[in-house]
Amino acid sequence: LSENASIVLFATVFLLAVAIGIVVLVLIYQKKQLQNAREREQLKEAFEREILSSRLEIQEQTFNNIAQEIHDNIGQVLSLARLTLNSIECSEPAVNEKVGNISVLVGKAVQDLRHLSRSMHTGNIAETGLEKAVKGELDMISRAANYSVNFQFTGGDARLPPQQELILFRIFQEAVNNIIKHARATSIDVGIHHSPDHFAMTIKDNGKGFDINNMESAGIGLLNIRNRTKLIGADLKIDTSPGSGTCISILLQ
Ligand SMILES: Nc1ncnc2c1ncn2[C@@H]1O[C@H](COP(=O)(O)OP(=O)(O)OP(=O)(O)O)[C@@H](O)[C@H]1O
Ligand SMILES: [Mg+2]
Repeated sequence: LSENASIVLFATVFLLAVAIGIVVLVLIYQKKQLQNAREREQLKEAFEREILSSRLEIQEQTFNNIAQEIHDNIGQVLSLARLTLNSIECSEPAVNEKVGNISVLVGKAVQDLRHLSRSMHTGNIAETGLEKAVKGELDMISRAANYSVNFQFTGGDARLPPQQELILFRIFQEAVNNIIKHARATSIDVGIHHSPDHFAMTIKDNGKGFDINNMESAGIGLLNIRNRTKLIGADLKIDTSPGSGTCISILLQ
């Protein structure tokens, strides 16, 4: 009997050990699979980020080339044209007046182009910082068009990494371009609030707003804003509906 009992005991222990072994193996296998899936997901995300960032890099490079061309070539040619205009001497006062007017217009074009090239150039934005770049752009808009422009900045001389500031500046530019192009607004309110662990930017207009699920035309502007926000790991909120203006907020923490 005792021999039987020990055989039963042995068999039970053996079966138990086999069962535990199987369970452990299954658990290990599952964990490994989960890990593999996670790694695949991470690789996919890294790949998408890489594509996104190289696309934006190419775009920046194009901006830089255009900015350079405006500065070195078109700007120079116009300045020369202005000099030539100013050297015209004529006894006819009406002609002189017209030449003077043209010279003023060319001067204005030179100045506008200089601003444009500055706001396009990566190096300039990295150097002056987001706050000044935004302020410069808004000054240009309020000079050129009839908007009540309001800019609020808090955060002293806090700075983000230049690459992030550049991306945020491009987001700001697209949002403002959209206001000018689509909103029929009379006011533009921009706020940048910077604290050591938190950055927020809002761009708000009092224009016609739109239905985000049913847009009149699908450009690439809002898509770029989405992609850029994702690239720097920020949160994006677009608050709008027909008739009640648009507010775009970016939160980075
Ligand atoms: N501030 C705004 N006020 C009113 N409508 C807007 C505003 N911003 C965007 N929209 C609407 O959303 C649409 C999509 O904007 P998006 O920037 O993606 O494209 P787009 O400006 O038409 O073209 P693109 O930016 O490619 O030059 C616009 O066509 C417009 O109808
Ligand atoms: Mg647009």
